Amino acid sequence: MVSLLGVVRMKTGECSNMTIALTILGASGKMGQKVLELARKDPDFHIAALYSRKESDLPYALAQCNVAIDFSSPEGAAQHLEAAVSAKKALVIGTTGLSDQEKQAIDDAARTIPILYSPNFSFGMALCLDAAARLGKVLFGKSAIDIQETHHVHKKDRPSGTALALAKAIGNGKVIFQNEGSSRKKEEILIHSTRSGETVGEHSLIFESDHERIEIKHTAHSRDAFAHGALMGAKFLAKQAPGLYMLQDMFIGI
Ligand SMILES: NC(=O)c1ccc[n+]([C@@H]2O[C@H](COP(=O)([O-])OP(=O)(O)OC[C@H]3O[C@@H](n4cnc5c(N)ncnc54)[C@H](OP(=O)(O)O)[C@@H]3O)[C@@H](O)[C@H]2O)c1
Repeated sequence: MVSLLGVVRMKTGECSNMTIALTILGASGKMGQKVLELARKDPDFHIAALYSRKESDLPYALAQCNVAIDFSSPEGAAQHLEAAVSAKKALVIGTTGLSDQEKQAIDDAARTIPILYSPNFSFGMALCLDAAARLGKVLFGKSAIDIQETHHVHKKDRPSGTALALAKAIGNGKVIFQNEGSSRKKEEILIHSTRSGETVGEHSLIFESDHERIEIKHTAHSRDAFAHGALMGAKFLAKQAPGLYMLQDMFIGI
């Protein structure tokens, strides 16, 4: 039987040589642990290697897999990317806070290996990004646009990668945004970042005009939303040619 994403599912006890060998990069972290927990329950995967920076053999960890998933840090992701290119392995990247130079390195690497990059792997957010682009086509430059994001106090980047992605989607990539502040020019989007408790991830998009207000809110209840999306992404990526893919690409044809 073929699943929604075209991955062959094996019956229990059947030979599992069609499962995806998965290496988790940043395996000791909050997201790495969640990916491991969900992958262990999914018969489409077997765990090839768990890598964290305390382990020294990154090439070995990558040699064991078909696909690797990275949730680490910008420095870690840059090293993992370079090693994945050398090993010619497909790479799912969920790390946020990447610099323009690090994003350029992903673009370059995608000429050699398949890469799926998303600052937010929840399917609901993929739909919100699509909605943001549609609303932005009509309202960017006409309404006051705010993005509010709240995350747990341990989050290292600010604003969130998702807030930046939403702003780019609304402004069709040309948006000028301010992280905070009270005044704005016509084509600026204000991003408000809050760090509070253990909040997993909340994003609100607000379009305000003289007569009406549109608000879209996305709340991730747990890290399962991101880990599940990343694992679906790994199944998708296992079948792709070298190139850079976005979460939205997985919806094509569904
Ligand atoms: N795309 C999404 O849907 C999504 C969702 C949630 C989070 N994120 C992002 O994913 C990343 C990880 O989040 P988290 O909450 O799991 O963080 P975390 O709990 O701090 O875990 C980070 C992991 O990365 C490893 N690491 C850190 N620096 C490294 C380096 N220089 N080289 C190799 N490994 C390194 C850590 O290993 P040590 O044990 O050695 O420190 C740890 O295993 C962040 O960028 C976060 O914003 C993305």
